[in-house]
Amino acid sequence: VARLPLIAGNWKMNLDHQQAIAFVQKLHWALKEAKHLDDSVEVGIFPPFTDLRTVQTLLDADKIPFALGAQDLSTKDSGAYTGEVSGAFLSKLNCAYVIIGHSERREYHGETDEVVAAKVQAALRHSLVPVICVGETLEQREESGPTAISVGQLEVALEGVPADADIVVAYEPVWAIGTGQVASPEQAQEVCAKLREVVAAKLGPDAGQRTRVLYGGSVKSANIASFMREPDVDGALVGGASLVVDEFAAIIRYQK
Ligand code: G3H
Repeated sequence: VARLPLIAGNWKMNLDHQQAIAFVQKLHWALKEAKHLDDSVEVGIFPPFTDLRTVQTLLDADKIPFALGAQDLSTKDSGAYTGEVSGAFLSKLNCAYVIIGHSERREYHGETDEVVAAKVQAALRHSLVPVICVGETLEQREESGPTAISVGQLEVALEGVPADADIVVAYEPVWAIGTGQVASPEQAQEVCAKLREVVAAKLGPDAGQRTRVLYGGSVKSANIASFMREPDVDGALVGGASLVVDEFAAIIRYQK
């Protein structure tokens, strides 16, 4: 099965809605000028909630072929949940994706594997593709090896997910996020292959073959190609480097 590579830019808490307009336009021009916008790679951008409406309007108006995603969603669909954002609202803004269980949510907002699983269900209820993030800290890696933590996190997240669900898995070793300390392509491949096995075991072999597994953690234009050469790495979840137009454009053009 040929899986369409996904290069996803997680802006985290950066770029307000005005900065977002300039950024998306510049990125689009950079890729268009170099004739590097084609069907061989999917580009996803994940701005803060407050930018989504503005970015959606711009993508529509200028026919910019980037997929839009949110960085989080509520486990609930509506009601008295102050500060929460429903997947129903994200769907209405044409979001295709939503990041769930990013290590920063797990660390700073106490998100457990069970909360992550409930958010995966919420995303699926609203036809959003969950980008399920898993990954180990350095201490966890030393204690239980490279795959055990991610496997455990993914197994819980996939509870109750139907076999035909469209999901994306992102392996993000916590020790490689924002640190410049990148995992080796071999390390990424080892865990991504294992995570694909988990998807196959839980959702069936078709889902295992179809599901895209991304690597994230200090991805740059200088290292993207080495990850993409690995058979079980289907793309990247990019943080810091997704905020620099030329750098993110170069990551998207990795294979050219
Ligand atoms: O979601 C993205 C990851 O946290 C990676 O961030 O590319 O800044 O290391 P980074």
